[in-house]
Amino acid sequence: MSLIDDAAAVRLNAHAPYSGFKVGAALRSVEGRVHLGCNVENVAYPEGTCAEAGAIAAMIAAGDRRIAEVAVIADSPAPVPPCGGCRQKLAEFAAGDVVVTLATTRGQTFVTTVAELLPGAFDAGFMDGSESAAP
Ligand code: THU
Repeated sequence: MSLIDDAAAVRLNAHAPYSGFKVGAALRSVEGRVHLGCNVENVAYPEGTCAEAGAIAAMIAAGDRRIAEVAVIADSPAPVPPCGGCRQKLAEFAAGDVVVTLATTRGQTFVTTVAELLPGAFDAGFMDGSESAAP
């Protein structure tokens, strides 16, 4: 099964009664396992979480630490781009050249990378030498 197939399967479990927009995400970790996430909405709308965030949380909870590959799928007219917050979350655990495949349930795909999704990313290097940075 491909990573897109994994994302499509977990998408069906999404809790999206408010938007009606189900999203599935699958990550392959550098350690070699696949971790899944779907969006989980809440009646207090800002408390909802994205599929990518769920997959990252599952990866970390399982003990893996780095992302090797990502797939995201939704029933959208074009491959769904991760939101800004999820781009930053992916960049925390993935090198810039990590491939991100965005897919639609109708079979369209768009292949990009973490660096393309988040140019000019803020990373820990910007805190080097800062008086206020933790030791
Ligand atoms: N959503 C995701 O889960 N991932 C994305 O990449 C885009 C948006 C979710 C959040 C919300 O539950 C619904 O899609 C509509 O924004």
